Amino acid sequence: MRLVIMGPPGSGKGTQAETLAEHFKVPHISVGDLLRQEVADETEVGKQIESFLNKGELIPHDIMHQIVAKRLDSPDAENGWILDGYPRDIDQAEFLDQISEPEAVLVIDVPEELSIERISKRRVCEKCHEVYGINVKPKKDGVCDKCGDKLVHRDDDKPEAIKNRLEIYNDETEPLIAYYQPRDIVFKVDGSKDIKTLNKEIISILD
Ligand code: AP5
Ligand code: MG
Repeated sequence: MRLVIMGPPGSGKGTQAETLAEHFKVPHISVGDLLRQEVADETEVGKQIESFLNKGELIPHDIMHQIVAKRLDSPDAENGWILDGYPRDIDQAEFLDQISEPEAVLVIDVPEELSIERISKRRVCEKCHEVYGINVKPKKDGVCDKCGDKLVHRDDDKPEAIKNRLEIYNDETEPLIAYYQPRDIVFKVDGSKDIKTLNKEIISILD
């Protein structure tokens, strides 16, 4: 399975990708998580990308190409992958086609108000990247069920950055649907359904 998941911020890409990765036994590659990890580790790349991330802007292509090519070259991605958050524009889609063509593209649709509401209530684990939200509450407030680390509100979940992220999705990422459409590999789902119902629906489409 080589699956690309697209959808506006807060549409549930990461939430769905986690269970799909277990089901299809391929790694969930969240490009946003990879980038935030570079910042947390204070690497050279992390220093270059921090301000782009915090403002909700796309990271420059040369950096993205390197990060994605390296990750897809890892042994665990040999038999497939689920890419969450990549590609985000035509340049990235063309690059991905050169290294490993997707077999399916899942588009999770949600209205803008729902994106904003979910993001404003989301909390994530700084260490293991587990995601919590309105319908996914941790057992203990502010503490990750999985690893016990603290839960935070992402730096790019502030109003100005959210506005940028939504604009970029509409202007640069959504046009990718037309890029992939002629291959007949695009599936659109309604992301406002509850998490489990949507998960079953996606699995039955992909199976
Ligand atoms: P990234 O981290 O990918 O952010 P995003 O695309 O804005 O998406 P989010 O992670 O905000 O939302 P999601 O769809 O994963 O939703 P989630 O499952 O968490 O990228 C961040 C930044 O990195 C970018 O802005 C850019 O700067 C950079 N970047 C990333 N990729 C790049 C690329 N390719 N090129 C250049 N730069 C790049 O769910 C949201 C909330 O809703 C959670 O609380 C969850 O519990 C809840 N929820 C989910 N589904 C449901 C449901 N069905 N019902 C109720 N609640 C739900
Ligand atoms: Mg995500």
